[in-house]
Amino acid sequence: MRPDPREGELPTELPSSFAIGPYNIGAPVILAPMAGVTDRPFRSLCRELGAGLVVSEMVTSDTSLWDSRKSRTRLDHAGESGPISVQIAGGDPEMMANAARENVRRGAQIIDINMGCPAKKVCKKAAGSALLRDEKLVADILEAVVSSVSVPVTLKIRTGWCPDSRNGLTVAKMAEDLGVSALAVHGRTRACGYHGQAEFDTIAEIVSAVKIPVFANGDITGAEKARKVLDYTGAAAVMIGRAAQGRPWIFREIAHYLATGEQLPEPSLDEVRDILITHLSELHRFYGAVMGVRIARKHVGWYVKTLADSDDFRKTFNQLDCAEAQHASVREWFERRITRGAKAA
Ligand SMILES: Cc1cc2nc3c(=O)[nH]c(=O)nc-3n(C[C@H](O)[C@H](O)[C@H](O)COP(=O)(O)O)c2cc1C
Repeated sequence: MRPDPREGELPTELPSSFAIGPYNIGAPVILAPMAGVTDRPFRSLCRELGAGLVVSEMVTSDTSLWDSRKSRTRLDHAGESGPISVQIAGGDPEMMANAARENVRRGAQIIDINMGCPAKKVCKKAAGSALLRDEKLVADILEAVVSSVSVPVTLKIRTGWCPDSRNGLTVAKMAEDLGVSALAVHGRTRACGYHGQAEFDTIAEIVSAVKIPVFANGDITGAEKARKVLDYTGAAAVMIGRAAQGRPWIFREIAHYLATGEQLPEPSLDEVRDILITHLSELHRFYGAVMGVRIARKHVGWYVKTLADSDDFRKTFNQLDCAEAQHASVREWFERRITRGAKAA
């Protein structure tokens, strides 16, 4: 009986790299797709800070909606380093196949299919994790997408529709048979939303049953947990979502620990400031002044959330409406904390 990754000891050896089609993925730590979070600036930063693979926000398969500003930024991969993995969401096989082709035309090197997201907007159209209830439709979508593109297709699922219908294993085998190249599994059912703790037994079962790389996802918040989950499930990699918000250095921390068994020290305040300033500049550049300033607010909030006495700063920062003022405010706040820390030392 393997120890539960939620508690207890472990570390043993670990697969250090794996491939998705022609792409060798060095570090077994992947940034999960998160709508409204894993935009290009954030993906680039996570990649620079150690993520072996990063996955885009989901793009709707309804190409008639692609002319919106939101879709245009999600579809823009000019100059992005690879492999570029783009997630598509929808419930119609032909539309999904078409969306896959169009994304490949625009630079996608891996197509990821969303059957893991419980967001209402997607589920109302029977897409995302709602698809897990209809295995025939799952097969039709996988078949249509895999046969429509020459790049590898990956799939993201939950462990099933609800605790009584945990069909993740069936879907995983089907995906492998239909030519899917890798599979990410979030250790909750669709009905579980984000409640309770992610479970890794179903993921371990899936890993034993298929030969394609499986990525374990759900509630992985640091290096030790990543190690335990990998050892428990035998997965090829861990996939990190919420724990990366405001902490893009989590990828190098996990990758380093997995490779050496040693914990990296937390980044210094100077480094956090520098990373945040770079992130801000990229947001302003990518989205333009108005949108960039707006989108920066939530990211800055995540960065400073874990630092003491950040509430007043966040309130003030959220009132600022120009890029220069945001930069100055971040610099000044960190400068004060760094000076205070130096004096106390
Ligand atoms: C804000 C947010 C947006 C998300 N958007 C997507 C998405 O677009 N596609 C998807 O497959 N999963 C999406 N997810 C689910 C995550 O990819 C991941 O499976 C989930 O958060 C569990 O991992 P974690 O515990 O590491 O956060 C989203 C999650 C969050 C928190």
